[in-house]
Amino acid sequence: MSLQAQIDPNKLPQHLAVIMDGNGRWAKKQGLFRTIGHESGTKAVREIVEACAELNISYLTLYAFSTENWNRPRLEVETLMKLLVSSLKKEIKTLRDNNIKLNAIGNLDALPKKAKSELLDVIDKTKDHTHMTLTLALSYGSREELVKTIQEISHKVKNKLISPIEIDEATINNHLYTRDLPDVDLLIRTSGEQRISNFLLWQIAYAELYFTETLWPDYRKNHLFEAILNYQNRERRFGKTSEQLEQ
Ligand code: FPP
Repeated sequence: MSLQAQIDPNKLPQHLAVIMDGNGRWAKKQGLFRTIGHESGTKAVREIVEACAELNISYLTLYAFSTENWNRPRLEVETLMKLLVSSLKKEIKTLRDNNIKLNAIGNLDALPKKAKSELLDVIDKTKDHTHMTLTLALSYGSREELVKTIQEISHKVKNKLISPIEIDEATINNHLYTRDLPDVDLLIRTSGEQRISNFLLWQIAYAELYFTETLWPDYRKNHLFEAILNYQNRERRFGKTSEQLEQ
């Protein structure tokens, strides 16, 4: 039986998040420029977006560019921004064909004008799509998101719009970039690194973590199916005992 056929459609992660890592090492291994690694990474992006749509996963969030990535060499940052613009132009058809809504989280004002306007344009053109929400994390950092959230809530307290005692988890959720997304169920990181790198710290509180040695440009549908089968064999207890879950 194929890997895909073994997946239980009733036990899918509702929200899958991916740290796409290893583009640079993939290129270096073949004596190519790092930027070629990112270019090859876009093929894996398309493959995984399509696979998630086929499986009926409702939310896919990809870590495309972190706040820390601005510190990379200028040429590499420029290439990543150009790839973003060209991918958005090219992939609008994939988004239409698969009824996928594009969304973005992060400090979008930090993006070059052209990248931001292309992004907002595709977000607008796909806003009525309902099959899946694809969120790109761009100039995203979880600590920055939390700082912004605390500033906004403090402002509301100062202006007496909310009292401190009323602040609960929902208040915080409603101020995050991810306010329209459910918690992450499964987080995948490629390339053998086992860390979170400032990605969705609040939102992964109960996520299952899955690490694979595969470098992002080599990541294909079968790798994703393996990760989902692994996830489906885990018991998610949310702090309860196995016996409580059985009842
Ligand atoms: C990590 O590899 C990858 C990135 C920093 C960028 C991810 C971008 C893409 C896959 C392409 C563009 C994406 C979209 C959505 C159009 P790395 O460079 O850190 O690899 P290394 O750890 O081997 O150096």
